[in-house]
Amino acid sequence: MAKKDKTRLHTSKNPLSENIRGSMVQLLQKHLGTAVDLTYQTKQAHWNVKGMNFIAVHKLFDELHEVTEAYVDDIAERLTGLGGQAHGTVQAATENSVLAPYPLDLVKSEDHLKRLADSYAHWSDEVQKGIEEASEAGDALTEDLLTEVGRGLDKSLYFLESHFQG
Ligand SMILES: [Fe+2]
Repeated sequence: MAKKDKTRLHTSKNPLSENIRGSMVQLLQKHLGTAVDLTYQTKQAHWNVKGMNFIAVHKLFDELHEVTEAYVDDIAERLTGLGGQAHGTVQAATENSVLAPYPLDLVKSEDHLKRLADSYAHWSDEVQKGIEEASEAGDALTEDLLTEVGRGLDKSLYFLESHFQG
């Protein structure tokens, strides 16, 4: 898939070399798929959660959804700006996401909070690796984008974990 992505690069006056742009498109494709996946993991939790703290977590999950949806657009448009072709459909996301499938039978708020925390933590870890990869490639702007995403993911992780810490 990576090689196919590189051959599909559009010509661009972007100052980065085609080789670097191809590597970054490949990197961003994985994060785009993950962002799409997480966008609907948060909605799955928003729709199905039940418990005494229902309204608080129902609203929190929707806020997290909106934040992740913004990542989808930011990542996709960095990818296309580098000359890539965004694989932004839900079906493509299932192939590219780094996340494990979200269970469809979760109900209790604690279960959703802990499962979403797992997803955020895992993606955050992948984003850290991506930041290093972008830095080593010399793409400071992709590095900056992933840094921003990572900072947001860790903030969301804190919101989730605060329900069951202490
Ligand atoms: Fe809703």
